[in-house]
Amino acid sequence: MNVLVIGNGGREYALGYAIKKSPSCRQLYFMPGNGGTSKLGINLQANINDRSEIINEIKKREIDFVVIGPEQPLAEGLKDFFNSKGIIAFGPTSSAARIESEKSFSKNLMKKYDIPTAGYEIFEKQDYEKALFYLKNANYPVVIKADGLAAGKGVTIPHSFDEASSLLKSYFDDSDFGEAGNKIIVEEFMEGFEVSIFVITDGEKYFILPAAQDYKRIGNNDTGKNTGGMGSFAPTPFLTDTLLKVIEKSVIERTLNAMMKENCKFEGCLYCGLMITKEGPKVVEFNCRFGDPETQSVLPLLNGDFLKFLYSYSSGSPDNNLISYNDKFALSVVMASGGYPGEFTKGYEVVGLDKIPADVIINHAGTIEKEGKILTSGGRVLAVTVTGQKGHYSQVKDKVYSEISKINFTNAYYRSDIGEKLIKH
Ligand code: AMP
Ligand code: GLY
Repeated sequence: MNVLVIGNGGREYALGYAIKKSPSCRQLYFMPGNGGTSKLGINLQANINDRSEIINEIKKREIDFVVIGPEQPLAEGLKDFFNSKGIIAFGPTSSAARIESEKSFSKNLMKKYDIPTAGYEIFEKQDYEKALFYLKNANYPVVIKADGLAAGKGVTIPHSFDEASSLLKSYFDDSDFGEAGNKIIVEEFMEGFEVSIFVITDGEKYFILPAAQDYKRIGNNDTGKNTGGMGSFAPTPFLTDTLLKVIEKSVIERTLNAMMKENCKFEGCLYCGLMITKEGPKVVEFNCRFGDPETQSVLPLLNGDFLKFLYSYSSGSPDNNLISYNDKFALSVVMASGGYPGEFTKGYEVVGLDKIPADVIINHAGTIEKEGKILTSGGRVLAVTVTGQKGHYSQVKDKVYSEISKINFTNAYYRSDIGEKLIKH
């Protein structure tokens, strides 16, 4: 099979890495890919916003299967377009992708179908006064979320009414979150620990991948700004089998059924972001695609034919026997450009990659290749993943950090506490 992975991040690198291992993968392509994916396959430089260019490449390269990585093209209907052209692709249609691209849709769905989540109210720009009144009487902290896609940056957690009212201004008056912030959700703050669970589904049948934990904040000990994710590990020992069963019944099955009843059957990877609270698991958010950097830690835990497995789910004959858990543990640490998630400079040479042994995965993200050199081209530059024995957390963590210390570029930054809570556990 000739396969195309759409996207250019660490998640797409990890997907490509897993797909390439499959004996049924003849030629792997990325569109547009990054400085690392060109070693796994061939990067295609089509304009991702021009569908006729995408189709031309698919025909020219005789591509049999497309995996759509990021949320934006899914929300914009790329899967619907492929469906209309008879191209088999992994990912949801735009109406199903609303579970991520319209948080108000997803919150209302959860309310209607009794899927546990934080209490909330929705406000539009014209409801400014109502929102202010609501915030005046709220219990703090509260959580404010932009309704639309905001690249992981649309969520703020004010601790006082003063803070909340100036944030409200930034959503509604100053358009700091663009159009995504014209509608907001104000949500009850949940306490607990977070897990990310990926469910591969055709809308009815499903397969749950090993549960992961993501480190969203930029600084050690979960301090500073929210990012796309600075590290991850899987499986998480903090989630018991009993809790997983509760999640399966009260979140996964209910959500898939709800989407079907609403005439927007969800096909692809349903990302369930959950808070495990004292009252049980509650949904923080749904995403309509694999998470980054959780994918980098989850996929090395699978044995079997990952490509055939994804294809089976996209082509009408889902087969859960194509993969299984391998009972290992994986930890990923993201190396970012200094300044991220704020301003940062690109174009620095990444050195030391040749010193990394083959059993360690360097998931390229914000990199490009230029004249044989790897240069930085984004906020999150790469993620180093080490896989080891379950329970041997110190060993895996020490190895990740000893390998990542061999890689360098100007102003490189990474958190030094990824996985620490496992060792203290
Ligand atoms: P989201 O983009 O919805 O995943 O939100 C980003 C991050 O904000 C989450 O991963 C949580 O750490 C935090 N967060 C979002 N909603 C809540 C909530 N209701 N209570 C506590 N923390 C939250
Ligand atoms: N790591 C969080 C996300 O992919 O949205």
